[in-house]
Amino acid sequence: MTHHQTIYDQAGAYDVAFSFRDYAKECDFLFDVARRYAGREPASFLEIAAGPANHALEMARRGLVSTALDRSPGMAAYGLERAAREGLVVEYVEGDMERFALSRTYDIAACMIASWSYLLDNDAVLRNLACVAAALEEGALFVVELSHPRDLLTRRKSTKNVWDAERDGVQVSTRWGLPDDPFDPVTQVRQVTVEVDVEDVNGRRTYRERAPEREYGPNEVKALVEASGRFEMVALLGALDVDLPLDDEKHSWRMIPVLRKRATTP
Ligand SMILES: C[S@@+](CC[C@H](N)C(=O)[O-])C[C@H]1O[C@@H](n2cnc3c(N)ncnc32)[C@H](O)[C@@H]1O
Repeated sequence: MTHHQTIYDQAGAYDVAFSFRDYAKECDFLFDVARRYAGREPASFLEIAAGPANHALEMARRGLVSTALDRSPGMAAYGLERAAREGLVVEYVEGDMERFALSRTYDIAACMIASWSYLLDNDAVLRNLACVAAALEEGALFVVELSHPRDLLTRRKSTKNVWDAERDGVQVSTRWGLPDDPFDPVTQVRQVTVEVDVEDVNGRRTYRERAPEREYGPNEVKALVEASGRFEMVALLGALDVDLPLDDEKHSWRMIPVLRKRATTP
């Protein structure tokens, strides 16, 4: 398995596990980025590796044309059901972020919470950048949220990997990674074990799955963006905060390249 498909197909449990995130605030951040680096309010949004599509749903609530893309059928069904329940128009495309083509273009795209870790080598990143660029307007932005490089390169960790969450009578305990998960220092790919324990009216069940995730340093991200020829990196942020650079050692906890689509050469 090339990603944590069993886990992601439990879309409802995933959504409870990550319900600590403030998706409205994360979308405010995407708007701040668009104002600062594209100089305009976005009218359309594309969420890459969208999972439950919380960002796409929030953007639709704000009146944007909104599309989610993910390869998990469970996530697609879940996202569409939530959109229907709220009467929101969200298109959900079931597809691979390395190989897709959409029928329209967007003002801003985002790939949140380290979903780029499923692009396991440089060619996969370049394929993703080419597909996203083709789906964007000229001058439009692509925001990628990645783990902070200190998590890869030092012993200090920026996030917790074990936590509990509860919503509407569903309790979910998550462990993302075990200390002895194998790491290949040549490819920067870790075999990450994920354990999700779900307790609801149907009883208790545990899902456990190991799958590869690639970890990134900032220099290779810069080089890959340059090599793509499609984008320029206009910022490298350290949090979901347009004023916080990656090199703010005290407050940064994420690595967020903000990419702007280059003008197409004739
Ligand atoms: C950690 S979840 C993140 C979901 C969402 N971005 C969020 O912020 O909650 C990673 C998602 O990436 C999706 N994914 C992994 N590899 C993919 C690929 N090659 N193409 C499309 N989706 C992919 C998984 O199905 C999963 O829904």
